[in-house]
Amino acid sequence: MIDVDKIRSQFPILSRQVYGKPMVYLDNTATSQTPRQVVEAIDKMYFHHKANVHRGVFLLAREATEMLEASRERVRAYINARSTREVVFTRGTTEAINLVASSLGSTFENNDEVILTVMEHHANIVPWQLLGNRKRVLLRVVPIRPDGTLDMEAFRSFFNERTRLVSVCHVSNVLGTVNPIKEMIGYAHSMGVPVLIDGAQAAPHLRIDVSDLDCDFYAFSAHKMYGPTGVGVLYGKERWLEMMPPYQGGGEMISHVSFKKTTFAELPLKFEAGTPDFVGISAFTKALDFIDSIGIEAIEAHEVELMRYTQQQMMEMPGMRIFGTQEGKAPVISFLIGHAHHFDTGTLLDHLGIAVRTGHHCAQPLMEALGIEGTVRASFGVYNTREEADAFLAALRRILPMLS
Ligand code: ALA
Repeated sequence: MIDVDKIRSQFPILSRQVYGKPMVYLDNTATSQTPRQVVEAIDKMYFHHKANVHRGVFLLAREATEMLEASRERVRAYINARSTREVVFTRGTTEAINLVASSLGSTFENNDEVILTVMEHHANIVPWQLLGNRKRVLLRVVPIRPDGTLDMEAFRSFFNERTRLVSVCHVSNVLGTVNPIKEMIGYAHSMGVPVLIDGAQAAPHLRIDVSDLDCDFYAFSAHKMYGPTGVGVLYGKERWLEMMPPYQGGGEMISHVSFKKTTFAELPLKFEAGTPDFVGISAFTKALDFIDSIGIEAIEAHEVELMRYTQQQMMEMPGMRIFGTQEGKAPVISFLIGHAHHFDTGTLLDHLGIAVRTGHHCAQPLMEALGIEGTVRASFGVYNTREEADAFLAALRRILPMLS
């Protein structure tokens, strides 16, 4: 059992009131809240350790560099990568996927193919389409079954000699579906195809072990894992990162620059052009410490228990339509009430103090496949309580008659 009261005391924002009511924050899938120790680490670095990294010889600059590199080692250990050369810091999952699409994608040839799924976030669709502006790249899109799970037969049928990459989310940000990525990676590898995992929605809930998964790339964001905004991670197997050309130029990604020929830095700096968000990156370690102090398995168990408790009661409400009912899904509930517009439902809930996301959730192709424009989405974090779930359910019961 986790001590939710103690956890909540580390998040001042959770004591906020909205419209004179206690705020119930259920938009953790969009971003999680940030505990005091992460914000204090940001403060501390700004007040006492700020100097540009990998550049200065003076003490302050060496301290800042050491803090950044200590964070890289902390992330390496957290995801069980073999080497810090495989841990590239980015601005977030979106930039991490764009990096691979742009860099690895530049080695693709016309008519090469990438396998995606219909449940991808736009961040794992649009970079591949942008690549398609430079050369013809065919996207093969794995459909879903009615419970929100992937059609694995279709997945297997899409491989051919032109398949260059599988790029798939670990967990759907809309349906909560947890994809069988280990099986998918195993199959893709048996066909000689590398795999990128968009782990943005998995990293906050599941243990990520890139060595055990044997994925070729794994991308995730700090701000969804109780960390700062503007920090993401691209894990990439060293042999891929070595052969990939740089993504952006400038800053410490070079070895030597001349107008005749420029050579590039060793991994992982080759992919870190410009001044990185070394403050956020350093503070991210405190978010990982926070997760480890509770245990990711305990976090997941708590959130899933809350989600199941809530979903079970929602399913008994007249007109309730829930999207994504996979047994074992992540703590996300996407729903509509009858034919009420998701925006109206979200607005009514907001006025009752409940913060949920409404809309297409950056997954318009999935909405199209479901035959809807958008949903209302409630998603749980480690600090949510049974009382908050009850407040959400009570708010739903209150607005139901207004919407049906
Ligand atoms: N990708 C985030 C979400 O699903 C922003 O809300």
